[in-house]
Amino acid sequence: MAIAFDSYRSLDDAACQARILEAKSELGKNAVILGHHYQREDVYRHADLTGDSLKLSRLAAQSEAKYIVFCGVHFMAEVADVLTGPEQVSILPDLSAGCSMADMANLAKVERAWHELSTVFDPDEVVTPVTYINSAADLKAFCGEHGGIVCTSSNAGKILDWSFSRREKVLFFPDQHLGRWSAHKMGVPLDDMLVWDYDQPMGGHSIEAIKAAKMILWKGHCSVHQMFQPQHVERFRSQHPDGIVISHPECNFDVCRLSDYVGSTETIIKTIHDAPEGTHWLVGTELNLVERLANEFASQGKTVQFMSPTVCMCSTMARIDPQHLAWTLENLVAGHVVNRITVPQDEAELARLALSRMLEVS
Ligand code: 13P
Ligand code: SF4
Repeated sequence: MAIAFDSYRSLDDAACQARILEAKSELGKNAVILGHHYQREDVYRHADLTGDSLKLSRLAAQSEAKYIVFCGVHFMAEVADVLTGPEQVSILPDLSAGCSMADMANLAKVERAWHELSTVFDPDEVVTPVTYINSAADLKAFCGEHGGIVCTSSNAGKILDWSFSRREKVLFFPDQHLGRWSAHKMGVPLDDMLVWDYDQPMGGHSIEAIKAAKMILWKGHCSVHQMFQPQHVERFRSQHPDGIVISHPECNFDVCRLSDYVGSTETIIKTIHDAPEGTHWLVGTELNLVERLANEFASQGKTVQFMSPTVCMCSTMARIDPQHLAWTLENLVAGHVVNRITVPQDEAELARLALSRMLEVS
C-alpha cells in the first residue's frame, strides 16, 4: 500500500531535503524531475531539467525515464502524459497545483462559443482555434479536432502566423493578454480584436462585430500577472532612466507596450543573462523567478527588481513543496505511484495532434 502523506506534513525542511536526495539517488535514471521556473527554490534545486512551458514539453517528449515527476502545475503534467509513451508515468506531487488561468476556460464553454459562432459562419472553415498551453487536455483535444493548435508564450507569434495562413480568424483561449499582444506584434489592429465574454450570449457581441473581428480573445487572464500595472513601469523609469524593463506576455497590453522586452520565462532569463554588467532590470513576472534572478546576477553587478510593490506568487505552483516531493519520490522507491496524471486515450490522441502541430511549427 502507498505511504500516506500525513507523516510528511510535519517533516522539517532539512530532513525533507536529505530524504529527497536519498530517494533521487535510489531511483537513478528511472525518474526525472522537471521543474518550471516559477517553482519555489527548495524544490527547484532538485529539478534535473528546468525550462519554460515549451522547453519542458520538449524535454518531457524526449525523456526516456519511466517516471516524470513534474514540479509545475496540472496542465504541464498532462502535457507530459500526452507526449510520452504508454509505459511512462507522469506525476504531479500535489494534485491541487492547478492554474487559475487554465480554469477560466472549459470544454462546455468553448463548445458553446463554437456553436454560437456557427450561427454566423462555419467556424471549421473560418476560425482556427488556438489554445494556450495553460489549458486542460480536453481543450487541446478540441483544437486537435477542429484544425487548431496549441501555443506557448515563446511561440505564440509563429503559431498565429500558421493559424491565419489557414483560416481568416482565430479564437484564442484562455489568455486574452497573450493573444492580444501576439496579434498586435504581427500587425493585427486592436480594432480587429474582440473579447469573448463566455458568460454572455454570443460572447456579448453583435453578429456584425463577430463578422468583422479577426482575433476573438477569450476573457481569461493570469491572476499573478494582472497585478503588474503601467504605473509600476512609469515609476521605475522615472527613478532609473537607464533601467531596462522586461515582462511576460501574460501582463496586460499597456505593461507590455511600455516594456523594452516581452517574452517567456526562458527568454527573460536568457535576456538578463546576456546583458552587460551593471545593467538594472525591472521584471514583470512571478516572484520566485525574479528573486532567483536577483540572487544569481547580483555577483555580475546586475540589479534585478520585481515589478510590483505587492507579492505576486503563483500560489498554486507553490503547493509543490519539499514535503510533497519527498512523499512522491519515497513512494516510487517503495514501488508505489502516487498522484499519477492520466489523460484518457481518445482525448490524448487529439491533444497530441494539436501539440505536435505546435512542436512542428516552432
Ligand atoms: P512560460 O511558458 O513562459 O514559462 O509561462 C508559463 C506560465 O504559466 C506563465 O505564467
Ligand atoms: Fe497559471 Fe498564472 Fe500560475 Fe502561470 S503564473 S501557472 S498562468 S496562475
